[in-house]
Amino acid sequence: MSITLQEMLRAVESVIADAGRGDARVLAEWLVAAAAGVGRLDVAAQGARLVDEAARARLDEWAPRVARGEPLQYVLGTAPFLGRDFVCDARALIPRPETEELCERVLADETVWSHPAPTIADVGTGTGCLAVTLALERPSASVIAIDLSPEALALARANAQRFGAEDRIVWRQGDLLSGLPAQSLRAVVSNPPYIAEGEWARLDPEVRDHEPRVALIGGADGLAVIRRLVEQARHALAPGGRVWMEIGNEQGPAVRELLTAHGFADVAIRRDLAGRDRFAEARQADV
Ligand SMILES: C[S@@+](CC[C@H](N)C(=O)[O-])C[C@H]1O[C@@H](n2cnc3c(N)ncnc32)[C@H](O)[C@@H]1O
Repeated sequence: MSITLQEMLRAVESVIADAGRGDARVLAEWLVAAAAGVGRLDVAAQGARLVDEAARARLDEWAPRVARGEPLQYVLGTAPFLGRDFVCDARALIPRPETEELCERVLADETVWSHPAPTIADVGTGTGCLAVTLALERPSASVIAIDLSPEALALARANAQRFGAEDRIVWRQGDLLSGLPAQSLRAVVSNPPYIAEGEWARLDPEVRDHEPRVALIGGADGLAVIRRLVEQARHALAPGGRVWMEIGNEQGPAVRELLTAHGFADVAIRRDLAGRDRFAEARQADV
């Protein structure tokens, strides 16, 4: 029996809505678009077009997963990051728009890129979205991608391979900046886990039940990883080197204090496009 894009959209939407998801229409549009290989807006515009068997089979598998609350990006297998589609699955956090903002801030900092061969570490690389983008956008840089999770690191490497950047990056499975020589880095960028332990139960189930806990939880107060990272960055950064971190929107004052107490200069807390404190940056003063 043949079925059109419009009919398929209605069927997928009702599978998702019946499971109680409020955003069923939009999710259904993304799924049908990806299955049929068209743009999201084309699903309505080309509603009379017939859907082939392969696309129907994909939707038979995808729609129930989304209905059960699995994130769209894990179901589709990719997530966009600054114009590139990163492979994405439950081994690592789904790249977020705020992290694109973080990356843009790093790319815009000429104090790092005016150096002839800067070394930059991406701490907690996850899908590798930051490390791979920096390697591709700044060919003069040496990039070190670090993650505690071997699974995340394998995914990051696969993404680097996908974009031809695997050999541009040094891969380290380990704890933050441990083991890196003193003053060896021009820059550190990190989107560390920063959610407090007690927030876990209150997280959106789509996040809590599917994304890795190690990517999210930063100890009892959410600052445990950031605290150690700041300490280690003080050791690993060359004089004048820069550090950027993504932080929770209520952590600005505490992170500012932490960076200042560790002797960093030019400490600043920056807002995201939604106007919330989301990024911390600082410069390594002379050591
Ligand atoms: C919030 S996710 C960020 C992933 C990716 N950079 C992004 O922005 O999408 C944090 C990452 O830090 C890693 N991680 C957690 N604790 C770590 C530690 N002590 N040392 C290194 N990596 C760690 C997690 O495995 C996870 O991949």
